[in-house]
Formats: sequence, structure tokens, C-alpha cells
Amino acid sequence: DEELVVLGIETSCDDTAAAVVRSNGEILSQVVSSQADLLVRYGGVAPKMAEEAHSLVIDQVVQEALDKAKVTEEDLSAVAVTIGPGLSLCLRVGVRKARKVAGTYALPIVGVHHMEAHALVARLVERELQFPFIALLISGGHNLLILARDVGHYIQLGTTIDDAIGEAYDKTAKWLGLDMRKSGGPAVEELAREGDENFVKFKVPMKQHKDCNFSYAGLKTQVRLAIESKNIDASIPIASASSEDRRARADIAASFQRVAVLHLEEKCERAVEWAMKMEPSIKHLVVSGGVASNQYVRSRLNKIVEKHALQLVCPPPSLCTDNGVMIAWTGIEHFQMGRYDPPPPACEPEDAM
Ligand code: KG4
Ligand code: ZN
Repeated sequence: DEELVVLGIETSCDDTAAAVVRSNGEILSQVVSSQADLLVRYGGVAPKMAEEAHSLVIDQVVQEALDKAKVTEEDLSAVAVTIGPGLSLCLRVGVRKARKVAGTYALPIVGVHHMEAHALVARLVERELQFPFIALLISGGHNLLILARDVGHYIQLGTTIDDAIGEAYDKTAKWLGLDMRKSGGPAVEELAREGDENFVKFKVPMKQHKDCNFSYAGLKTQVRLAIESKNIDASIPIASASSEDRRARADIAASFQRVAVLHLEEKCERAVEWAMKMEPSIKHLVVSGGVASNQYVRSRLNKIVEKHALQLVCPPPSLCTDNGVMIAWTGIEHFQMGRYDPPPPACEPEDAM
């Protein structure tokens, strides 16, 4: 097997990311340019603005990834790029750049599914991780439980019927007046450490559904109502809140987190039971996606794997949140199975992309 060096490009949401990875699992470089400042200023992702922000930095981010890896385009074996799911305007910025590099240097191109990349990056982190395995993928836009049988062969065990858990974290942070310069999740996690998780008894979603699906819209509403009933004024930033007010916010953050994660635990446990009936050889539970960087989430899921004698594989936070490494790595996995497109023409008209 020849050694591959692959450039990965990711622009599906609000981060512009690129990385260079070797097929032996060595990460040669990793660059992420965040739009966090824009998000704070405009209170969310506006597709047109996000597209412009990606366009402004994409060339620089890719160049930096190559420079840091001490390679040039000529050293690359292929270019991998996220083709979905995500905001189409944003995806196009990455795809256009990938096709330009691949066209100019006659490199094959691998289109990558963003959620598959969140799952497969676990195989870079844990080289012993063999198929089949179970993956819980938790991010701002997705909440998925899958049985991964092989590269490109997945069975969906559960998904969300409305919002993903990361969305619930982000709204909770906003309504609690937390510092949104970081994304909402880490801010809620931090504040929850000061709080009493039994302060508000939120209802655990989907208790009566004997499946592996999720729902976070109702919990979001419960949190909003609790915040209103405690007279918390989110226009007062937490940094300026009285100690009593801060305490109430921390209690709500902790109570929310307990139930949000309990819901994950219940569905994950059922999925593990289902999957192990189908595939008794399963040895690993992978937990990935932005919310998997949460320490409380990790410690609670550890309980489930211990009970079922599985091993938890949870990538480090920099590989859980959106990044170019997971795209490059998934590109490598597909390339090795012969799944790639030939180099695009060297000079493509813009509108052909
Ligand atoms: O995977 P990701 O970077 O982007 C998507 O594909 O959506 O996930 C972003 C989500 C955001 O909702 C963010 O608030 C959440 O992951 N997140 C966290 C933590 N770090 C990031 N949620 C809870 N606790 C964290 N420590
Ligand atoms: Zn993601």
C-alpha cells in the first residue's frame, strides 16, 4: 500500500478548515478559521454572510495548511472536500477551492459526507478500531446513532425528530445571557459546574418511545419557560449578574445538561442493545461531533460502555468539533477503496462547479 498524503477541506457551516493528513494517521497540519465573531455580531449563521466569510479566508487557510505540513500541492495524493450536508452556499466555497487545486495539479478528488467524517476520524485516533462499531454523532445540526459496518456502509439506528442537542445547548446559552464568543455548548458546560442539577425537574424527552430517536425541541421550550419564570434577564450578561442571579442561571444550566444528556444515555443504551444483537462482535462505541467534547457527556457515556463491556472512543475536542483532519482522513479511507473522482479539468469555468 503506497503512502498517501491528502489535503482535506471543510466549509459546511461556520468554520473554514483545512488539514493535511498521511495515510499512516500522521496529522501534518490542521488549520481552523472560525467565524465566531460574526456569529456574535449577527446572532446566528446567516448563509450569505457565512459564504462571504469562507470566500475571504479559504485560500489563506489552505495555503497555511500546506505550509505548516511542509508540503506543496505536488506532494499530495488527492484532495478531499465536504460535499454535504451543510449550507450549500458555504459548501460550494470549499468544493470550488478543492476542484481548483485538484484541477491545477491533476489530483483525484474525494467528496466526503460531513457526518461520516465525524464517525471515521475515530479510526485515525484509535488505530485498533475495527468495523463494526456503534457511533453516536452529536453536533449543532445532527443527532445520529449509527451502526458502522464498513467504510460507506452504515445503518441508521436513530436520529432527531426536530433539533440536535448542540442546538439546545446553543439556545440555552443565549437565553442565559452567556458569553457567546465561544460557541454556546462550552459556556453552558462551564456554568453548569457551579449549579444544582436537580434545581429544575425538566421532563426527559421521548420516554414513551421505545426507539432510538431524539427530540430536543420540547426541552428547549422547557428551558425557556424556566428562565422566564425565574425572571432571568438575558440582556444582562452573566458577568454583570448578581451572585443570586448567577446561581439561578447555573442551576438551570446544570438541570438542562442533566436531562439533555440523560436523553442521550437512554437512547444510546437502547441502540447498543439493538446493535449488539445484530453484530455481537462490536467492541466500540464512538462518540464524536462538537458536543462530544463535553466532559460531562463523556463521563456519563462511559457508564454505558462499562456496563456493556465496550470501549469508548471519543476523539480529542479539536477533532470532535468541525475540522479538516476528519475530511482528509475520510478521503484517505475512501481513496484506499478506490472511491474517488478523476482530476477535474485544469481550467474549469466558474459556473461549472
Ligand atoms: O460538530 P460541530 O463543530 O459542528 C456541526 O457540525 O454542527 O458541533 C458544533 C456544536 C455546537 O452546537 C456547540 O455548541 C457544540 O457543538 N459544542 C458543545 C461543546 N463544544 C461544542 N456542546 C456542549 N458542550 C461542549 N463542550
Ligand atoms: Zn460537524
